[in-house]
Amino acid sequence: MNLSVQLAPRHDKGLRLANPVMTASGTFGYGTEYSHLFDIQRLGAIVCKGTTLNPRDGNPQPRLVETPSGMLNSIGLQNIGVKALIEEKAPLWAKWRVPVIVNIAGETVAEYAELANKLDGIPGISALEVNISCPNISAGGAEFGVHPESAARVTASVRAKTSLPVLVKLTPNTGEIVKVAMAVAEAGADAICLINTVRGMAIDIYTRQTLLGNRTGGLSGPAIKPVALAMVYEVAGTVEIPVVGCGGIASGSDAIEFIMAGASAVQVGSASFINPRAPMDVLEGLEQFMTREGVRDISELVGAARR
Ligand SMILES: Cc1cc2nc3c(=O)[nH]c(=O)nc-3n(C[C@H](O)[C@H](O)[C@H](O)COP(=O)(O)O)c2cc1C
Repeated sequence: MNLSVQLAPRHDKGLRLANPVMTASGTFGYGTEYSHLFDIQRLGAIVCKGTTLNPRDGNPQPRLVETPSGMLNSIGLQNIGVKALIEEKAPLWAKWRVPVIVNIAGETVAEYAELANKLDGIPGISALEVNISCPNISAGGAEFGVHPESAARVTASVRAKTSLPVLVKLTPNTGEIVKVAMAVAEAGADAICLINTVRGMAIDIYTRQTLLGNRTGGLSGPAIKPVALAMVYEVAGTVEIPVVGCGGIASGSDAIEFIMAGASAVQVGSASFINPRAPMDVLEGLEQFMTREGVRDISELVGAARR
């Protein structure tokens, strides 16, 4: 059975994964936290927590709220910063078989470029995933990923500063997802990942306060799966580069739905909070399905629901 996927066919070195199951940024730490729970080296790739130029403490508490079919978070990119990542995490990853992809976030285009520059050529880092769902101070609090022009500017600035494959992670909080996807593909992205969390809120009716310290947050988990699936379907039908599906994936069959919608690979996010072994369960479920259905190569399933 062939599960391997090429996520960066336009890149000279490419980004080949042994299988299409990845972890989603911010839900699997730096990978090290999970290595005693299962053989994380068997995964297709690990995407680490969003990384910024300087360490960040994140948003005020509370930052996590459960909802009927998912969760709201407003972590606010709490992370150790790029210097500590390079000094403390990358040397560990360099010994791993599984590729590690570093998720980056900035408040200005220049910050993204500086991050890309600092991470270029560091052993242990196989690719960058550019999170364009962060507040853009210079555009008055919007997210870079909301508009095609700003999304393209960030992508081009990262592309210019790195020789690594570049994945760009899109936000669903835009009415222009297809235009944004086309713009980042044009600006040099090797692959597109979607979706990040969907903006949401919860209120405690007795305290009459919003439940999250930051008032609003991002919804993830099973609730967003149909939204993510439709966006993957739309985008995969439009761009030439590979698409990575993310949003509510907790089982092999969830992953297969995304692959049939056109995704070349998938990311497992919030499911890891309920079941830390979720990414491995997804991989095993995928393998069992392929065995049962007599599918020899994962590529036979990519976009199957589009034909
Ligand atoms: C607690 C938490 C932290 C997250 N942190 C990041 C992050 O740092 N960078 C990023 O691009 N996405 C981040 N995400 C978004 C996830 O990677 C993923 O896109 C989203 O949760 C949807 O997938 P899911 O429904 O499987 O969780 C975070 C999500 C959660 C729940």
